[in-house]
Amino acid sequence: RLGRPLVVAIDGPSGSGKSSVSKEVARQLRLAYLDTGAMYRAVAWDCLDRDVDLDDGELVEAAARTLDLELSTSPDAERVVVRGADVTDAIREPRISASVSAVATNLGVRDELIRRQRAIIAAHGRRMVVEGRDITTVVARDAEVRLLLTASEEARLRRRGAQLGGTQSVEDLLEQVVARDAKDSAVASFTQAADGVYTVDSSDLDFDQTVDAVLGVVHAALSRP
Ligand code: DC
Repeated sequence: RLGRPLVVAIDGPSGSGKSSVSKEVARQLRLAYLDTGAMYRAVAWDCLDRDVDLDDGELVEAAARTLDLELSTSPDAERVVVRGADVTDAIREPRISASVSAVATNLGVRDELIRRQRAIIAAHGRRMVVEGRDITTVVARDAEVRLLLTASEEARLRRRGAQLGGTQSVEDLLEQVVARDAKDSAVASFTQAADGVYTVDSSDLDFDQTVDAVLGVVHAALSRP
């Protein structure tokens, strides 16, 4: 079974624990790992770095089409390099999070990044955990396993608050989480599982339990006739 294609497509909102869970699932299944959100962030970084006007859709699309991007696909060492510059940490900065939706809502950008994502999956012999917002529905509709990782708004607020060191008010957190969901869902619907997509709700699960639940879904999906 080792060399057989196994694409595990995982979608979900921010704060569902998607990235850390996806990486651990990739480690345990010995699969490569692709964080598609990092690609949208890399385009946003490139636009800010070159002073590209984010309101100019054609320039933003051109930035994506010509982006010189290298991504590591190891779950153990995330590395994002744009034009030779290591931007692994820079793409997580708040200024990127604040501007990335202008990039992610651009259909030309999406077309280009979806094309690149499919090429990356193919180049890995279709043995990969791929996470994002439109993986189960668009990028890898044909994945062996498709899964939506959800969590209640309350659980996501709690995690985001802990991530930020508990210094933010509930109102600020609510504003961040809910406003981002609203922006993100303008692009891809990830709040309802599409047909044939499994759902794991992590609201009442800790990290290990969530990983086990996802692995359970993978094994169930693979043992289906
Ligand atoms: O998961 P993230 O926060 O790194 O995603 C960054 C942005 O990119 C966010 O606005 C959602 C968007 N995104 C997307 O539209 N499609 C994807 N497959 C992945 C991310």
